[in-house]
Amino acid sequence: DYEKRIDSLLNLMTLEEKIGQMNQYSGFWDATGPSPKAGEDADSKYKDLKKGLVGSMLNVKGVAQIKALQKIAVEDTRLGIPLIFGYDVIHGFKTIGPIPLAESASWDLETIKKSAENAAEETAASGINWTFAPMVDISRDARWGRVMEGAGEDPYLGSKIGVARVQGFQGDDLSSPKTIAACAKHFAAYGFAEAGREYNTADIGTSTLYNIVFPPFKAVTDAGVRTFMNAFNLVNDIPATGNVFLQRDVLKRDWGFDGFIVSDWGSIGEMTTHGYTNSDKQAAELAVKAGSDMDMESSAYVKELAQLVKEGKVEEALIDDAARRILRVKFELGLFEDPYRYCDADYEKTVVGKKAFHDDALDMAKKSIVLLKNENNLLPLKKEGQKIALIGALANDKTSPLGNWRIAADDGTAVSVIEGLAAYSDNTVTYAKGADVLTADSKLSFAHEVTVNETDKSGFSEAISVAKTSDVVIMVLGEHGLQSGEARSRTQIDLPGVQQSLLEEIYKVNQNIVLVLTNGRPLAIPWAAEHIPAIVEAWHLGVQSGNAIAQVLYGDYNPSGKLPMTFPKNVGQVPIFYNNKSTGRPDGETNDVVFWSHYIDESNAPLYPFGYGLSYTSFTYKNLTTQKTAARHITVTVELTNTGQVKGKEVVQLYIHDKYASTVRPVKELKGFELVALEPQETKTITFELTEAELGFYTGQGEYIIEPGEFDVFLGGDSNAKLSTTFSLD
Ligand code: IFM
Repeated sequence: DYEKRIDSLLNLMTLEEKIGQMNQYSGFWDATGPSPKAGEDADSKYKDLKKGLVGSMLNVKGVAQIKALQKIAVEDTRLGIPLIFGYDVIHGFKTIGPIPLAESASWDLETIKKSAENAAEETAASGINWTFAPMVDISRDARWGRVMEGAGEDPYLGSKIGVARVQGFQGDDLSSPKTIAACAKHFAAYGFAEAGREYNTADIGTSTLYNIVFPPFKAVTDAGVRTFMNAFNLVNDIPATGNVFLQRDVLKRDWGFDGFIVSDWGSIGEMTTHGYTNSDKQAAELAVKAGSDMDMESSAYVKELAQLVKEGKVEEALIDDAARRILRVKFELGLFEDPYRYCDADYEKTVVGKKAFHDDALDMAKKSIVLLKNENNLLPLKKEGQKIALIGALANDKTSPLGNWRIAADDGTAVSVIEGLAAYSDNTVTYAKGADVLTADSKLSFAHEVTVNETDKSGFSEAISVAKTSDVVIMVLGEHGLQSGEARSRTQIDLPGVQQSLLEEIYKVNQNIVLVLTNGRPLAIPWAAEHIPAIVEAWHLGVQSGNAIAQVLYGDYNPSGKLPMTFPKNVGQVPIFYNNKSTGRPDGETNDVVFWSHYIDESNAPLYPFGYGLSYTSFTYKNLTTQKTAARHITVTVELTNTGQVKGKEVVQLYIHDKYASTVRPVKELKGFELVALEPQETKTITFELTEAELGFYTGQGEYIIEPGEFDVFLGGDSNAKLSTTFSLD
């Protein structure tokens, strides 16, 4: 029981020392937010550290650095309270795996959990004890660059994946040197930034908040996530950081969260820029009252809180509560038993980058790939006797596949597609770049803008002549790894730069094209979807990218990924998502040719729906049954058969539609899924249990209710599932 020890410690602490626990600084040399203002340099941070006015640091990596800073906290400060070190370990530390959106396309919770487990082991070996992950923001807007960090558009899938990630990071024992504390972010509604523009306002009703945005946050709270991060955006015109409703009422009171909330980078200070507070002092006051426990890089707490307490504007009990929450997590991590428990330089060398992590990263990468189109079974490719043209700068890129947030990975360390193809076949592969995606002078780092090549087509003619004389053309096109992620919003979500015209020029001379897409968000590629016979969604797959792609193209691995976000035909359809509400004049249900809910220049249908993905085999669904096993318990069964020639895996998806309700329910809601492996011609019966957890919904006041009435249930391999039946609740 740590609470008594925390009581004794709090009794020993001065007000300033308690506030110090609530202060977090970035390492003196690295920034994952706006760089520090001139004058706010390493020197003053260092002095604060020595005075015991810092509780946590971020962006410090490696045992040597961390040990040195921890030593100051433990040996030079009055009470020797250890620091907690956080970092954005979003998809691996040194061994970078697929971006989280890609992992989510696997719908494979065990493998996702394993991936987080490995990331935790590698991170902890390097001295860090806290990751700012998982990001569980639901988003319906592919313009927003940070969709690459989440699990996509669906709250049910997002909750399951969020929980798997938290369990992977934290394990059963937070004090183990192989686990780290997780952080659910960004609370809340950051994924609903208007027009998909980074850091923009979120204007969102409470029904959507409770039913779409909150569920993954609630699920990870129930699963024991130890920290939360709040968000940059306004919610109902109040900054999330200063939002009492979100942090005090919902998270801490209603959900009983007893960990701590860290602000996002500078978001306490930014409340003044929003126009909510008039100074750092007022920002500190409102943030702490709203329940933000730790200040990341605003310095507002460390500079203002003590005075606010002395003036009677902030009760000391609020400071005690915040400090207690932070100390609690430090105790749980075992930092008081041994502040250097994550600081063994010899151990670090044996763990970071070890082979087992690479093997698992390859496994995760293969499972993340989604087969979008495969006309006339162009894929898998023959392994011998083929002349292959490999076109596109991204085919020869060993950095882009690492995606955004690459932490300790070095540029140029991913397996490229050229290398992957060479490792898995004896075909003759001739590479031609065709065109660069970015301009040559783009600086490749988290903190730099990248510039797209909009004009240079000088490589087209070489690529065309290689394509002309080849049996098959593999084109690797899409976004560079740094074109998605934080502050990477786009207004066009097509193939960037001159890549679309490269694709069309190649198509004129050879139509036998396999298009391999690499991207961190859904792309609008209607021309390719119509003309190109085979399309493989390969995201940004991490260090093992080229090997995973080659295994899928050659059939060594049968793809089973399914899209976690809808792919639009046109950016004008965004936000587009499967679990929408019916309008009063929906598609196909009125005879009128004009006055119904539609566009005059594009259909309402997406390019590829949520949950969609093909396999090298085929599956059929039949014999859907429902049985009421209790008043609020429905058992659903369906038979799935592999009707093709090879073994494969299918994500069986169950959707419901509550037909009439006191607040309108979506036309379809995912309420179950199972990843099923089948041999050719094998049939399995899959059973789902729909219980209170699946059958109800939240009112706009946050009450969870289950209403009587009729429900549709749909079973299939994507959100267009047509096999359906009904059941009723009394
Ligand atoms: O964790 C991140 C957050 O997601 C965005 N702003 C910076 C934080 C720390 O790097």
